Amino acid sequence: MNAGGEATDRYGASSRSRWFRHRSARTPIPALPTRVGSVELRNPVLTASGTAGHGAELASYVDLAGLGAVVTKSVSADPWPGNAAPRVHEATAGMLNAVGLQGRGVAVWLDEELPPLLASGAAVVASIWGRSIDDYRRAADLLADAPAGVVAVEVNLSCPNVEDRSGMFAHSAEATEAAMASTAGCGRPRWAKLSPNAGDLVPIVDAAVRGGAEAVTLVNTVMGMAIDPATRTYRLGNGGGGLSGAAIHPVAVRAVHDVAAARPEVPIVGVGGVTDAEGAAELLVAGASAVQVGTATFADPRAPGRIAVDLVDWCRRHHIAHLTDLIGAIHGHPRP
Ligand SMILES: Cc1cc2nc3c(=O)[nH]c(=O)nc-3n(C[C@H](O)[C@H](O)[C@H](O)COP(=O)(O)O)c2cc1C
Repeated sequence: MNAGGEATDRYGASSRSRWFRHRSARTPIPALPTRVGSVELRNPVLTASGTAGHGAELASYVDLAGLGAVVTKSVSADPWPGNAAPRVHEATAGMLNAVGLQGRGVAVWLDEELPPLLASGAAVVASIWGRSIDDYRRAADLLADAPAGVVAVEVNLSCPNVEDRSGMFAHSAEATEAAMASTAGCGRPRWAKLSPNAGDLVPIVDAAVRGGAEAVTLVNTVMGMAIDPATRTYRLGNGGGGLSGAAIHPVAVRAVHDVAAARPEVPIVGVGGVTDAEGAAELLVAGASAVQVGTATFADPRAPGRIAVDLVDWCRRHHIAHLTDLIGAIHGHPRP
């Protein structure tokens, strides 16, 4: 069941979304302008990294030019093979994944994946990742000459830091600041994508801002695991993985809410378990200036487009003339 009381499947897709799937292809998305720092977006609904491909894969399902932006799969400076199979496992109201950031590297992405995506008219947010500070620097530097259609770079900091065996960049304020600072060479606005697994997000947000982040994207997946008790084996080839989908929506709402309350001057992109317009509106009211749709896209590839269209309708029904009337409204003060 979703927040609107509709029956949902295991990914949180409602019967309404399943009906929509059969109704039409590529419904045009009306404009509903918003801003994330210096980046103007035509609609507050974006795709989430890793759930919409590397390029224009969703073009036959979604009016990509009508979305706020397409956030592409994280790519690193060098090709990376990813994790052993199985890489995904269904969980209650969501999924566990341990894809392991497979990709062909930034240079191939620029040559082969980006051109068709830009040709679709989409605004593009390029997501990069690394295993060391130098990896982040090289990935960002490779984006320096990317076309202007790459409106921002999202820096995925939920990655293992090989120089510090104690964990992920996004779990350490020091490593977050250093990784963000190393990405300045991309020459465009940078969003720090943070992990909900950090005990207290606010010091990590502060570190990301010190490193040059113009906004933060909250949240990446929640650490999880599944074990087959009969065979005494892990369900994922990597052992552990990341939980996403409807199950983590309240985690995302809480993260966005608490960071917005503590740091009202920092723009936030909210992500986690958005399956419908009401879930998107909830993250906006909590303090996000834009939202991303991830796992819902696996249940229905039209989900980002459907939610973007429905959000315009939701705003009309709730007499929201400007998104600024909605963003951060729970806190009673305006958001950037
Ligand atoms: C299969 C899969 C792959 C993902 N790959 C990435 C990635 O490459 N980079 C990244 O920053 N986040 C990645 N994510 C995390 C999503 O972007 C998003 O933060 C998370 O899934 C929560 O949103 P959701 O519940 O709407 O999926 C991935 C998630 C899934 C399910």
